[in-house]
Amino acid sequence: MAIIIDENCGVFTLHTRNSTYQMKADFRNLLLHTYYGEKTDNSDKSLLLFQTDRGFSGNPYEMGKRDRTYSMDSLPQEYSSFGTGDYRITSLRVQNGDGSQGADLRYTGYQVQKGKYGIPGLPAVYAEDEEAETLIIRLEDSYSRMEVELYYGILEELDIITRAVKITNGGIEDIILKKAASMNLDWEYGDFEMVSFYGRHCMEMNFQREEIHHGIQAVGSIRGASSHQYNPFVLLCEKGSDERMGSCYGFSFVYSGEFLIEAEKDQIDRTRLICGIHPDNFSWNLSSGDTLWLPEVIMSHSGSGTGRVSRNFHKVIREHICRGEWKNRRRPILINNWEATYFKFTGDKLIAIAKEAKKLGIELFVMDDGWFGKREDDNSSLGDWVPNEKKLGCTLKELAERIVAEGIQFGIWLEPEGISEDSDLYRNHPDWAVGVPGRKPCLSRGQLILDFSRKDVQDYIIEQIFDLLDGIPVTYVKWDCNRAICDKFSRMLDSSRQGEFSHRYVLGLYRVLEELTERFPKILFESCSGGGGRFDAGMLFYTPQIWASDTTDAIERLSIQYGASFGYPVSVMGTHVSMVPNHQTGRVTPLSTKGCMAMAGTFGYELDIDKLTQEEKAEIKEQTDVFKKHYDLIQHGDYYRISSPLEGTCTVWEIADPSGGEALVSAVYHHVQANPVPVRVKVQGLKDEADYQLYLNENFEEKYPGKRLPHGFASGEVISGASLRQFGFVVPEAMNGFQAWQIYIKECSCSCE
Ligand code: GLA
Repeated sequence: MAIIIDENCGVFTLHTRNSTYQMKADFRNLLLHTYYGEKTDNSDKSLLLFQTDRGFSGNPYEMGKRDRTYSMDSLPQEYSSFGTGDYRITSLRVQNGDGSQGADLRYTGYQVQKGKYGIPGLPAVYAEDEEAETLIIRLEDSYSRMEVELYYGILEELDIITRAVKITNGGIEDIILKKAASMNLDWEYGDFEMVSFYGRHCMEMNFQREEIHHGIQAVGSIRGASSHQYNPFVLLCEKGSDERMGSCYGFSFVYSGEFLIEAEKDQIDRTRLICGIHPDNFSWNLSSGDTLWLPEVIMSHSGSGTGRVSRNFHKVIREHICRGEWKNRRRPILINNWEATYFKFTGDKLIAIAKEAKKLGIELFVMDDGWFGKREDDNSSLGDWVPNEKKLGCTLKELAERIVAEGIQFGIWLEPEGISEDSDLYRNHPDWAVGVPGRKPCLSRGQLILDFSRKDVQDYIIEQIFDLLDGIPVTYVKWDCNRAICDKFSRMLDSSRQGEFSHRYVLGLYRVLEELTERFPKILFESCSGGGGRFDAGMLFYTPQIWASDTTDAIERLSIQYGASFGYPVSVMGTHVSMVPNHQTGRVTPLSTKGCMAMAGTFGYELDIDKLTQEEKAEIKEQTDVFKKHYDLIQHGDYYRISSPLEGTCTVWEIADPSGGEALVSAVYHHVQANPVPVRVKVQGLKDEADYQLYLNENFEEKYPGKRLPHGFASGEVISGASLRQFGFVVPEAMNGFQAWQIYIKECSCSCE
């Protein structure tokens, strides 16, 4: 049983395999948060709280005259609200019918359900009934009769707890939600550091770890999407914790729109974390009887460092967020023509790339931007999803069939949310573009964006794409969105409801994606927003992979993919090998290094095969063979970060089979030194008692005559799992700049006696 309820004391204890979460409805029916951390017993942790009179922290009326220690401003709460005595950051800010702001939420009851709850119209973790339990706790503000239901999904085996909130106006007067977060978490103790991921177009997911100091620290987005700038995934780590030790919490917001994750260390050094829809562009009118569901947050705690938290998230995203035919099916190695041709191509050129790619073991050809309307650059035609037959030299169907006839699958790029002013769609429906009537809208990449909050626009796009793809042998769609949203306004919403625009846009996007993925269950959807501009667990519910960045430079990708690995598995990260000098940075890296980086993701290519030498083609054939051989290990194995691209000379990561039978260690030198310090790798996830052999991806002796390999690499050498864990091995040194080594470790039956 994951949910233990002590009705007499009002204590709710949720257990996962290694963690415990606890709340308590106190004598006033205030829902206190009493514990989240390492697994413990069911005893009432509220008894260990310490309250004293904090001057200027007021007391609820009925307490004020007899107990000045009881204050909303210092009690740890499960779902805090603004306006009734809590001066910290709060999760809920409501404007009542009379214009006053505030809610006094009190516990009114609970319900337990088998299985995991779902959320209508929003992505959420799903599970079989035997894998999960749901607890619903009801709170009410007796003044406005607003009801708040807190949902908890417990996936015990996975150490995962999810949270979502449903708000209903049970009163007679309209209320306005001005802020409605999905999660509030209070800690009574602890000095924390927050790990968050900042970035920009082409350089997403930069790791940053900072002490939570007094005041408010926040990451968020007001860009219409989760954004390149901050990712909606954070960790809170106890000071001194690292990859393998200490208490760490992870939080992933299952939402693709504007978000705010705020942390505050208060006057008495307690920490509060709040995660939800960004309140800056949000307000929601709830008329009598109306309900609003707020998006889900996935939480996980580990007592053994950030590595374990990441692996918990990898599993829940892989198994309980990603859906559909391609969830566990082997995904094709693809080649995309974007960096090969940009907008300048013909149908014949595409077929030539596909044909050559097939010979090298590539399985899917993706036609990127430029195939429709009169799009020869990025200034026109978005919205006109009509193939440019003159450019292609044939119909879309014929092109797809010719490519498929070469023995390679066909995929296509789309940007369904985009609209160019120079398009028939805009000429016919200028009012479908987001913008404030009478004001000139802000352009970005020269384009506008469709008002996806409107049902008529959603329906039109669904039908357009259905008509385009129906009957064509398409196995893959790249769903792009190449700008952020501003000038937020919808002609379909009256003036008092414009604050609903951003959330309604995301709900509209989710509806369109749900419909299309249902109509085309066999198509593999990959989302993209100029790379990682919408890289979040919400999108992964519809598209099981996301193009991680428009930067394909292998060395820049080290830190992008390192950052992403904290919250997201390898199987969702779109990664490609491209040409050198790299188009974004001008850097030259070996083909083997680019292959190694791309294999830490979905794996594919983005280059003009015609421009490669025979040797390079042969190397690509080897890479596709290696990837296919290790596919299951790479995509479904346990991921360990061994060393970071932000320090030292070499970034190392390892993927181990959960059985401990094999592992693949990848090491990329991001900094080359003379007379280098050895890079030692202590291997994780193996069996202490088993014996292993190490295999290097290259024929070292032949390629680097006279150079010495470290111990463990000579053929036939056997090392015990315990030695590999405790003592480790040394990575061969870099023989050229930015060298990568892939080291395959396999259990062997020989004995080292
Ligand atoms: C975005 C994508 C690229 C490419 C271009 C096409 O920038 O991230 O991969 O598809 O659009 O315009």
